[in-house]
Amino acid sequence: MTEATPPAFAGPRRVLSGVQPSGDLHLGNYLGALVKFTRLQHEIETFIFVADLHAITAWQDPAKLKTQVREIAAAYLATGLDPKIATIFPQSAVPEHAELAWVFNCVARLGWLDRMTQFKDKAGKHKERESVGLYTYPVLQAADILIYKATHVPVGEDQRQHLELTRDIAAKFNHDFAVPGHFPLPEALTEGPGARIMSLRDGTAKMSKSDPSDYSRINLTDDADAINQKVRKARTDPEPLPELLVDLKGRTEAENLIGIYAALAGRTAQDVLTEFAGQGFGAFKPKLADLAVSVMGPIGDEMRRYLADPAEIDRVLTEGAERARAVAAPNMAEVRRIVGFWAG
Ligand code: TRP
Repeated sequence: MTEATPPAFAGPRRVLSGVQPSGDLHLGNYLGALVKFTRLQHEIETFIFVADLHAITAWQDPAKLKTQVREIAAAYLATGLDPKIATIFPQSAVPEHAELAWVFNCVARLGWLDRMTQFKDKAGKHKERESVGLYTYPVLQAADILIYKATHVPVGEDQRQHLELTRDIAAKFNHDFAVPGHFPLPEALTEGPGARIMSLRDGTAKMSKSDPSDYSRINLTDDADAINQKVRKARTDPEPLPELLVDLKGRTEAENLIGIYAALAGRTAQDVLTEFAGQGFGAFKPKLADLAVSVMGPIGDEMRRYLADPAEIDRVLTEGAERARAVAAPNMAEVRRIVGFWAG
């Protein structure tokens, strides 16, 4: 008989995710991440952080970074993350993330990182001018997850490869240090109606905060006027909407708008088509704009309310950081012992 597979991780299920404080949050972040966080907090122990260590892989103005962290925290709270249930904290307030990332830098192989498509996309033609941090960004992400021994990670489709890398690092650590089952092999939770929200200007590009055109996205802080204008100007085609979902294939912009409507309404795309079949975008767009305003408007208002009282946000983040450290510190102490460090 060949050797059995190593014992699986036996710890509790735990959710962890985070968003970078660099640029405004938009509808894609809201439907692809924030809504999932608020749902999961009721099902599994949930840790949600603001990734300020990741943000500085590209230059951030030190005078603005704290405000950017508060804005993400305000968005979490406005969407319904409850600090009494979920642990909400700034990444830099828990130094164990960076400490574990160093150990993982020595576990991950250069060949693994060379394959990361997000680095290639972000660095473009001039990778020698990027920070070393941008290159090892996915290793820090693995440390974010594994310092809490998290088992489930709600993220957008684009993060799948980083989760595969996280599993590779966990498995190699468990193997090399002969601690089978020490780290879990975490799973990406990417499914859901908001999994792929595309740009309003180009149905083949993801909705993104780095798109130079503000018309490509609906920001969480957009007011009703802005939302109405952006939906009105959204790219479409001249055909009426079909009855069946299969007939939307190839009409990327139309598919995206129907998908957004469905995700915002909590309905299936087919259900939405059944309602609007035969109608053109002249009729559909005002309905979509009304729906977007009714869902996003109150969230923007809540965000502004929190940001008007930063003391409340800071209290949440400070308490969250304490709770996070209470988990991260003993986990890091274990790693120090396993690796054989002097201060183990
Ligand atoms: N890389 C993630 C993104 O761009 C943000 C992130 C950093 C993250 N660390 C994480 C997400 C850990 C999940 C878990 O969306």
